Amino acid sequence: MSMIPDPEQCYRLLREAGCSDEVINHCEAVRKVAVRIAKKAHANIQLVEAGALLHDIGRSKTQGIMHGIEGAKIATELGLPLSIVNIIERHLGAGIPIEEAETLGLPPKDYMPITLEEKIVAHADNLIDNDREHPIEIEVEKALKKGHTKHAERLMELHRELSQRCGMDLNDI
Ligand SMILES: [Fe+2]
Repeated sequence: MSMIPDPEQCYRLLREAGCSDEVINHCEAVRKVAVRIAKKAHANIQLVEAGALLHDIGRSKTQGIMHGIEGAKIATELGLPLSIVNIIERHLGAGIPIEEAETLGLPPKDYMPITLEEKIVAHADNLIDNDREHPIEIEVEKALKKGHTKHAERLMELHRELSQRCGMDLNDI
């Protein structure tokens, strides 16, 4: 499957991978916000929609930080396009640079979102708690409480970058 799957195919893939209803509802909520951002940002909507629906497919294997990597592995095995694999692998927080990846025990690699579509899915996920929208400041607070200052800074930076691109504060999207 080297083409971008349509939403129905994405739901089928999530279910076949063994994702719970909770994960699927979360992916649906992220999809809605991500598509709204994609329209404003003039991004590839089809890619953002599929990437948003599939971003947590790795939660069928683990709820931990490895779910991005597990998800990318599943997507690769399914023969999904690299554009989707990378959205999944780079969606954690506002991305994880290689130095932090090593500290977190992830395979040493840069997990920062690069393309506009990767950034949009990562950020839509930051604007959703379970299946409800919340302002980015809530996510920033959570990171600061855990002492993850750099993570908090990256969240705000991505929020600013995409808000600027969309010509609006994405808390109001
Ligand atoms: Fe995730």
